[in-house]
Amino acid sequence: MNVLVTGNLPEKVLSLLGEMHAVEFHTEDRPLERSRFVEMVGDKEGLLCMITDRIDDDLLQHAPRLRVIANMAVGYDNIDIEAASKRGIPVSNTPGVLTDATADLAFALMLAVARRLVEGDLMTREGGFRFWAPMYFLGHEVSGKTLGIVGLGRIGKAVARRARGFEMEVLYHSRTRMAPEQERELELSYRDMESLLSRADFVSLHVPLTPDTHHLIGEKELAMMRESAYLINTSRGPVVDEKALVRALEKRTIAGAGLDVYEEEPALTPGLKELNNVVLLPHMGSATVETRSRMALRAAENLLAGLVGKRPADCLNWDDIHGNSDRRA
Ligand code: GLV
Repeated sequence: MNVLVTGNLPEKVLSLLGEMHAVEFHTEDRPLERSRFVEMVGDKEGLLCMITDRIDDDLLQHAPRLRVIANMAVGYDNIDIEAASKRGIPVSNTPGVLTDATADLAFALMLAVARRLVEGDLMTREGGFRFWAPMYFLGHEVSGKTLGIVGLGRIGKAVARRARGFEMEVLYHSRTRMAPEQERELELSYRDMESLLSRADFVSLHVPLTPDTHHLIGEKELAMMRESAYLINTSRGPVVDEKALVRALEKRTIAGAGLDVYEEEPALTPGLKELNNVVLLPHMGSATVETRSRMALRAAENLLAGLVGKRPADCLNWDDIHGNSDRRA
């Protein structure tokens, strides 16, 4: 069958797909241009796509033969699942395999912004490190502080586990509260959003982007945070009102932020890059050799299953297409 792969994947994964199917690749490290995408997807039965590809009703209209969409990401806000379900197209993501890499990066951002790693590195390179001095280049400690986790899925839980090693008190807020014994086991305390924001020294976001989480952190929420607190976002940019964040960082109504994602990615809100109390990364939460290989393989396996009409292991809409009775198909 004909397959389109819109990103550069490890050789091993490309050959796995190539052994069984006619695969067309877009291997440049830049997103496929829309017109080219529309052209390329027209005769394909399988699509292995990236978060930078917008898969909407209009694109699907140009892909009448599509039998499966395998997104190489855990987040799938780039895909109109309803439009795919309506056409009977299963959609999959890659959960689980990027949990640790993303949780590690959330911690890296906490440490980087609170301990001023980027500023320190730049200054040292520029020859600014002349003497050790007792009150020189002071940051704030991560160890022993209070961490507020917003969204307690796999990644949120992995961040909470890491926080134990830093002897942090961990608060969480999520749509559904865990059972008390689970909270005890993970050493987590549930808080409503306002009390989490007003108590935490670090607020780390781990929610998917949905209409409900768009601008979850805006002016009002930023105002609830402490002046000494840091905001960490490794989820999706539009979860934060970036203009409001720039204002809060400029006025120092919060101490700083560590961002891996942006509202209009890859563009940055004016003012953001001029600030020295923010660490900015290029959406690299899952960007390790190990994790990206696992994600590519997982996406390929989902694709291969869908091409032969089987339920992809990580299918997001199988029940919407087939109804609950087909759950184990
Ligand atoms: C990356 O952002 C992902 O959703 O996997």
